[in-house]
Amino acid sequence: MAELKYRTHHGMVDLLPEETPKWRALEEIIHNTARLYHFEEIRTPIMEQTELIVRGIGALSDIVTKEIFAFEKGDDHYILRPECTAPVVRSFIEHHLDQRGGTQKLYYIGPMFRAERPQKGRQRQFHQFGLELLGSDSPLADAETIRFMIDVVNRIGVRNTTLKLNSVGDPESRARYKEILQETLKPHLSKLSELSQVRFEKNPMRILDSKEEEDQPFIEMCPSILDYLNDETAAHFEQVKGYLDASGIAYEITPRLVRGMDYYTRTAFELTSPDLGSQDALAGGGRYDLLVEELGGPATPAVGFAAGMERLLLAAEELGINLGETPTPHVYIVTRGEAAVQWASKALSELRKKNVSVTTDYQARSIKAQMKEANRVQATYAIIVGDSELEEGLFTLRNMHDSSESKVSLEEIFKRLTN
Ligand code: HAM
Repeated sequence: MAELKYRTHHGMVDLLPEETPKWRALEEIIHNTARLYHFEEIRTPIMEQTELIVRGIGALSDIVTKEIFAFEKGDDHYILRPECTAPVVRSFIEHHLDQRGGTQKLYYIGPMFRAERPQKGRQRQFHQFGLELLGSDSPLADAETIRFMIDVVNRIGVRNTTLKLNSVGDPESRARYKEILQETLKPHLSKLSELSQVRFEKNPMRILDSKEEEDQPFIEMCPSILDYLNDETAAHFEQVKGYLDASGIAYEITPRLVRGMDYYTRTAFELTSPDLGSQDALAGGGRYDLLVEELGGPATPAVGFAAGMERLLLAAEELGINLGETPTPHVYIVTRGEAAVQWASKALSELRKKNVSVTTDYQARSIKAQMKEANRVQATYAIIVGDSELEEGLFTLRNMHDSSESKVSLEEIFKRLTN
């Protein structure tokens, strides 16, 4: 076979016609769930200012240190968004969405970009849906966020999931915990991975998120953050758990769950699936009570999550779940000769005006080839038109499912097809 001249970038994939129906089905589940919870959709640009993402996610996070696609054009620094929380917060501040009053409940669906090493369930362009609930520090907001996430996953039919839950503390609890972490890790500093050594001074909690082999024994030695929460944060966490218990949502308390971004405060969570292999995180999120202010907005507590849509569809596939059907036309018009094509051209638009989905041949192929095509696209009916049919004013209407045929007038065809 000839070498391909052009192909997609590594880790970026085409969604071909066989796959788009399940994407649309998933999107529909998301939109329907959002309507039930009364979340409003927001769409932000694919590119943002690099500084927003660096400030938002954290200069020492894996995403910023290793995975961003960024470039300069003139004086501007562009970045392909690796996630959507910082962009939504930017938009919230830029458009003063707080002035709409109350809690802003926003959701989004769209592509994100991370320059990671591609593997099953991990791409460089991937899609997330997620939501951001801005303006409430009520534990009910945390519970609603988690419930929404689980609702969508359940509606797809993926049920065998684990909700990992933690509190990463408020600034006060965290300051205490950081000191304890540094005390615990200091004697072993030289044995930690290079990156963890860098993180030790500025952001020791990020060490808990390290995937490096050599760090693991020392991470094991670290105490649980849950033992260092102040009363208020501990009470908030208890209430979140209480709301989840009351709605029958099971969770595993996971004290080392710190998540990949620096903006988290208090509640943090992840939803994993045993059907996914090494990239087992379906979704993740948490509170980020300080981010809006850090990015220049009014002090606004917030909570949100995002889910990986490729991973959700992979999990569904593993479970044999069929999402979305390939659209099929109601009618295929088979033509023979130029006069028939002219007739078809008019019939196509007449039928569509009556909301009948209809297609035809565009390559003057043989009747046999056209019938084969009508079968392939699973048309319900074929109308067969040639010179003799036009002269007679009677056309063959073939039911493609039971192969029955009748010779009928145009009015009769319209009557039958629009019924
Ligand atoms: P995240 O955990 O980085 O969180 O990403 C959420 C989900 O996106 C992951 O659980 C995973 O399913 C999917 N994902 C991430 N990277 C990739 C990849 N390279 N290929 C395929 N799927 C991937 C966030 O992005 C936060 N913004 C979530 C959030 C919203 N927190 C608060 N609000």
